[in-house]
Amino acid sequence: MFWQPFRDPVLGCSSFLLGDDVTGSGLVVDALGSVGHETYILAAQEAGLAIEFVVETHVHADHASAAASLAHALGLPVTLSHRAKASFPANPVQDGAEIALGSVVVTVWETPGHTPDSLSLIVRDRTRSDDPWLVMTGDSLFVGDVGRPDLVDADPDLIRRAAHDQYASVRRLMTLPDFTELHPAHYGSSPCGGLFMSKKPESTIGYERRSNRMLAINNADEFATLQLNLLKPPPADAVRLRRLNLGETSVDDTGTSAASTSTLADTLLWTQRGVRDDDAICS
Ligand SMILES: [Fe+2]
Repeated sequence: MFWQPFRDPVLGCSSFLLGDDVTGSGLVVDALGSVGHETYILAAQEAGLAIEFVVETHVHADHASAAASLAHALGLPVTLSHRAKASFPANPVQDGAEIALGSVVVTVWETPGHTPDSLSLIVRDRTRSDDPWLVMTGDSLFVGDVGRPDLVDADPDLIRRAAHDQYASVRRLMTLPDFTELHPAHYGSSPCGGLFMSKKPESTIGYERRSNRMLAINNADEFATLQLNLLKPPPADAVRLRRLNLGETSVDDTGTSAASTSTLADTLLWTQRGVRDDDAICS
């Protein structure tokens, strides 16, 4: 399996390129606008992968995503929850969906709470084992913390209900084996988490089971109350960023439209397809 994280240390964001290095099928998760969609295409080329899936763990409220522009450049839909009503071409997925990249298989779990459309992505490499190797939890479970429940709706009753959903989602994630690597979408001082979020970007399910203070709480009401008592100020511009990341506005933070940024990506895509065509001829 190929695995490469891409991070923005200022925003405290992580994104990932993974793939099957035998079949050459690749997948990008939570592409970051600050990294730029060309970066993922170049990295995939470097790794000998063709990006076949562009996946969002949820509709982000703290930063501009590059998922739509990356998918547009590659002629792909964005794979995201069926609960996210995107304005761009989408491949909606539900709980239990599987994305096969060859021997590397990604299983989708719906883990609502931070947002209703939050997904966690469990990755197995069947050349190694049928066990989960890692999980990308988006903003459902962080290193040392869990995702905040208040960025979609300001109604206090709905925020408390979202916190209850978050409790159920993290309990479900705790059914994964201890050795499962944990790769969230945020770390450090990202505003998407609470006060306990670690600056370390990855962990394991087992370490979090033993040391994450939110996971030590075994009562949904108590969990929700603590979450609400510890809320930090929301990210600036959360409403606008969610709209942007749903494709409701076509101009990103840099003032550049997705369509006009695709020139380099189109060239790279042509090359990527060329590589795949050559592979087909050779085989
Ligand atoms: Fe988020």
